Parts: sequence; C-alpha cells; structure tokens
Amino acid sequence: MQESPVLVETSGRVGIITLNRPEQLNALNDALMDALGNALLAFDADPAIGAIVITGNDKAFAAGADIAAMADWDYMDVYQGDFITRNWETVRRVRKPVIAAVAGFALGGGCELALSCDIVIAADSARFALPEVKLAMLPGAGGTQRLPRAIGKAKAMDMCLSARTLDATEADRYGLVSRVVPAEALRKEALNLAAVIAGYSLPALMAIKESVNRAYESSLAEGIGFERRQMHARFASADAHEGMQAFLEKRKPVFQHR
Ligand code: CAA
Repeated sequence: MQESPVLVETSGRVGIITLNRPEQLNALNDALMDALGNALLAFDADPAIGAIVITGNDKAFAAGADIAAMADWDYMDVYQGDFITRNWETVRRVRKPVIAAVAGFALGGGCELALSCDIVIAADSARFALPEVKLAMLPGAGGTQRLPRAIGKAKAMDMCLSARTLDATEADRYGLVSRVVPAEALRKEALNLAAVIAGYSLPALMAIKESVNRAYESSLAEGIGFERRQMHARFASADAHEGMQAFLEKRKPVFQHR
C-alpha cells in the first residue's frame, strides 16, 4: 500500500501536518496537495483544534512543484485542470492560525506554501529560493505577489529573476520568516508556539488573522475600519469578558472559545 503523502496527528489543541514524500524532497504533486487541503479543512472544522503546524523533514520542507508530474503537461491540461487554483490555495481558506515549520529546502512552490502560512519558523538549516526561472517557468503559486509584500520589491526581484537562495539568517533579516531556531529544536519550538497560540480564545485568533490579512487587501482607512469593527465585536464574546475579568481577579482565564 502506498504511504500517505501527508501525515496527520494532533498534540493537545494543535493539528500537525507533515509533508511526506521524502524520496522526492516533498515535491508537491496533486495527491499531496489534495491530502494537505483535506487535512487543513478537517482541522479548521474541528472545534478541538486551535492552531495548525505544517512541516516537512530535516532535508526538505518542500522542493517545489513536482517537476516530473509537470514535465508533460500542456496548456490545456493546466488551464482546464485549474492548476494551483484547484488545490494549492486551500491554506488561504483556513481561518485558524497556520504555522510553517521549515527545515532544509523550501524552494519554488515549497517557498510559496510557506509564504501562504501565517507564521514561518525556520530551522537554521532552512534554504528559501524561487528557482522556477532556471526551468524557464515562473513562481506561479503566489510567489511573485506575496514575496514583494513580505520582503519588498528589490529583494523579491532578485530572488525571482536570479533564483538566489536565502539562508535562514537572511530570510529572518528580510522578514520572510518570523524566527530562526536550531534545526534540532524546530519541531519542539513550532509545537510550543502553536500550543501557546491555540491556548488563546479561538474567535479572537480568527478575528486577528482576518484583520492582519485585510492589511494586504485594502487601503489603510478601510483596514483600520475593519479592525475597529472586529475589536467592537470582541465585546460580544464571552471569552473577552472572561479575559478581562481574569486579569482583574489576578487569575488565569478559562476560555470557552465563544
Ligand atoms: N520535483 C520533482 N522531483 C524533485 C523535485 C521537484 N521539485 N526536487 C527534487 N526532486 C527529486 C529529485 O528528482 C530526486 O529524485 P531521484 O532520486 O528519483 O533522482 C530526489 O528528489 C532528490 O533530489 P536530488 O537528487 O536533486 O537532491 P540534491 O540534494 O542533489 O538537490 C535540490 C536538492 C537542490 C533541492 C534539487 O533537487 C532541486 O533543484 N530540485 C528542484 C527545485 C526546483 O526547481 N523547484 C521549483 C519547482 S517549479 C515550481 O515550484 C512551480 C510553482 O511555482 C508552482
């Protein structure tokens, strides 16, 4: 029996998805992206889960779209099959926080998958690049759009046009990742972070994520207006009252995720 292209497990309120095509450096094919999407949606729908971690193995988070699968495709295959849009963007529909824990290669679509997550934790072994130009292709899973927003036009152009690789320190300096940890501590650090996040009130997390993402899709005035309504809406939440009351009573809040 063929092994599943993703492994799914839980740790407390954290859902963990491990990309599992190690022989192909987790190259992202249809089966893997379908399985990843299904796992993400299942965790998103599960009230017992508050945050999700996507990770790979020591050598690769993911070395990009599966070149062996793509090599024979023609235009009609990808146009009618809705390549990327059909099953690569599920992560953007997830309303809970998603953390990418990246060790080793995060190349092409692998880098773009990390960029689609909310927080990227990098092992010191992580390597980020958009090498599609070497194949006479282009980053087609959001890389030309999300990378400039993440690290600015100059660095993004350099990465896209020259296929330059960033090590973890550079990726951290440029703002592509939020923190760098020793490779051997990556999983523990990512799970600890996810557990801290998952311990907060879920509707508050969802509102925060939606508000931060709105910054990329709207003018400042519209974004501020959206944020303000989200903040007002917190006053309708039992958890916000519990959080404030617990602070005043000098105790830990007990959130109901309502
Ligand atoms: N697709 C399919 N198979 C891949 C792959 C990919 N993206 N990346 C690695 N593999 C396979 C290799 O073909 C090899 O398989 P075999 O053992 O059967 O030969 C196996 O994984 C191990 O890879 P290497 O032997 O090449 O390992 P290495 O350590 O010498 O090199 C590497 C590692 C530098 C990451 C190299 O594998 C590489 O350059 N990979 C391709 C990276 C790339 O171009 N990614 C962009 C893809 S296009 C894309 O992602 C488009 C998009 O935006 C959607």
